Amino acid sequence: MWKHAIEDAIEKTKANIERYGDLFPHVSENDRYLLNPNDDWTDGFWSGILWLCYEYTGDKTFQQAARQTVESFKLRLEKNVVLDHHDIGFLYSLSSKAQWMIEKDETARLLTLQAADVLLKRWRPKGQYIQAWGPEGDEQNGGRIIIDCLMNLPLLYWAYDQTGEAKYKEVAVAHANLSRRYLVRGDDSSYHTFYFDPENGVPLHGGTAQGYHDGSTWTRGQAWGIYGFALSYRYTRDPLYLETSKRLARYFFERLPEDHVVYWDFNAPIHADTKRDSSASAIAVAGALELLEHLPAGDADRVFIEKAIELSMKGLVETYATIGKPDAQGFIERGSYSVRGGHAPDDYMIWGDYYYLEALLRLEKGLKGYWYE
Ligand code: GLY
Repeated sequence: MWKHAIEDAIEKTKANIERYGDLFPHVSENDRYLLNPNDDWTDGFWSGILWLCYEYTGDKTFQQAARQTVESFKLRLEKNVVLDHHDIGFLYSLSSKAQWMIEKDETARLLTLQAADVLLKRWRPKGQYIQAWGPEGDEQNGGRIIIDCLMNLPLLYWAYDQTGEAKYKEVAVAHANLSRRYLVRGDDSSYHTFYFDPENGVPLHGGTAQGYHDGSTWTRGQAWGIYGFALSYRYTRDPLYLETSKRLARYFFERLPEDHVVYWDFNAPIHADTKRDSSASAIAVAGALELLEHLPAGDADRVFIEKAIELSMKGLVETYATIGKPDAQGFIERGSYSVRGGHAPDDYMIWGDYYYLEALLRLEKGLKGYWYE
């Protein structure tokens, strides 16, 4: 059913390998991806797309290109290029960890473990959280956590599985618990970010960086939560994480617009020009597929979530995908990086493309992406 969409994305990736060379796509401007050397939080997604294409096709062109990106990630770690943030999980799960999963490459495994140690440096024992952005003690961000970080925790859980060293799991669990308590609200919506007193961990207030307002629900944040808590459940089997993922998913999918692809924030006023975030829908679908793997057959929400996955994926493929536009670089249109900040508000997002392809491959072939092994 999804084959046509997958093959279209694979064709585009082949053309993109030529276009991008050693560079990494980020978001687009005028329908062309902006390229950067390996120095942004988004660079793992290109690597992940290449590994997915290789797994699906067995074509060594993709394997070669993917391996080349892992070399680049090795240099990035050696030279410590822009690693002073929490998104180390996005970078190394989809590059070196993917290589280890597919090829059992020992160098890739060791590189991924080194990356987990870099992420661990973001742990702030006084506050009991992983600091998302900025240096330790930073006035604005020193006490701030963000919901996106839930997708970086699998790197720590994996490092625990590999080494048996409790510190990795303890940090991941403490951070997931704090995120559950403060980022998820009583009505199952979520804050994008939350502030604590960095000296003693006293909770201060919620906030946003990319959402409509501090108390709104940024759709991509909600999607990160669906997937992130489902993965915390996979690694820990704590039923509270499963319940939280499910609640976030219900909130998300109960608010789909007519074409089943979400706007950028659940609280943004809807009019003819309101921006979408197709990447949020792609993440939510991939996350809900992970969630479904853990829900018992008789779970009361199963049918609703299955239907929501189908409708959302169809919405993406039929209305947002660039199928039939052979010169397009991206797979899905109308993602938004930051509508609030006027930054790529209606463009391709490389993470949107990654999760779209991951979700398609989960649906078509049962491939699972690179978040757990
Ligand atoms: N993790 C950053 C973002 O979703 O924009």
